[in-house]
Amino acid sequence: MRIGVLTAGGDCPGLNAVIRSVVHRALTGHDDEVIGFEDGFKGLLEGRFRKLDLDAVSGILARGGTILGSSRLERNRLREACEKSKDMSKDYGIDVLIPIGGEGTLTAARMLADAGMPVVGVPKTIDNDISSTDRTFGFDTAVGVATEAIDRLKTTAESHQRVMVVEVMGRHAGWIALESGMAGGAHGICLPERPFDVDDLVTMVEERFARGKKFAVVCVAEGAHPAEETMDYKKGAIDQFGHERFSGIGNHLAIELEKRLGKEARPVILGHVQRGGTPTAYDRVLATRFGWHAVEAAHRGDFGRMTALRGTDITMVPLAEAVTELKTVPEWRMDEAESVF
Ligand code: F6P
Repeated sequence: MRIGVLTAGGDCPGLNAVIRSVVHRALTGHDDEVIGFEDGFKGLLEGRFRKLDLDAVSGILARGGTILGSSRLERNRLREACEKSKDMSKDYGIDVLIPIGGEGTLTAARMLADAGMPVVGVPKTIDNDISSTDRTFGFDTAVGVATEAIDRLKTTAESHQRVMVVEVMGRHAGWIALESGMAGGAHGICLPERPFDVDDLVTMVEERFARGKKFAVVCVAEGAHPAEETMDYKKGAIDQFGHERFSGIGNHLAIELEKRLGKEARPVILGHVQRGGTPTAYDRVLATRFGWHAVEAAHRGDFGRMTALRGTDITMVPLAEAVTELKTVPEWRMDEAESVF
């Protein structure tokens, strides 16, 4: 069997572990050949690919990023790109395509599958917002980075009696904010799923200081926004891919808290540091398992589906099911977090 693999969308720690696992399982468990397209669907469309053998994937397990490179597909060019990809895949003689990516990539994968192309998807995103899988690799690493940042910020915040506003990634879903906020013991967590009230945050900080505490940390997802009228808040701008780029809710919130509290507040935007660097052990294992199962699914002819974690098992779920809606943080998870503020 000739397998084509590509990584698309925003990168994420663990991508190399999947590529390595696909190559190992395909070459040693079966007698397959694997080619890797460079820079996501772009490489497929432009005919840029290379053969992946065991040497090519040696030493990459712990490496962040993706040895294949990645790119985002413009939303409005999705259909056109899919049509072309289908023809190109035929030209390269691949029997199955394994695209590793987030919601956009899996939507493209679904379109390809609907058009008759043999596709097995592998979900990835640090945001953990893909439906139908309990976890995506990359998330554990991102939560670890954000948690360490909160831990570190607490000591400097205490020295200066400041409020720290830590902005983490998560445009539409607040999983990173929720879990790093819980793990780091943040005193307030703001998620895109639930508009926050600045008055509540002000009261929380005032009560803490009244109890003799000398600092506070608020963990805010980049896509979080205030309930209407509670604070001056600018909407984001739309980028070339149609994504909304927020103008830094962390900055706005820190300025607002400083004004209302009369105490110093500092914003810390963690940004892409959450996506870079070496994956945690958990993410390496999950990514390796996804790669193994993707190859097995290809050999069973289990196309139009993606690998998914359910409990501790890896299963296959229809791509159609996975891309219908994003997995957001349910209210009860926020209630649990709030009980330990
Ligand atoms: O989808 C993953 C993600 O990390 C989001 O949390 C974030 O909003 C976005 O990617 C950033 O994308 P880019 O790398 O294009 O700036």
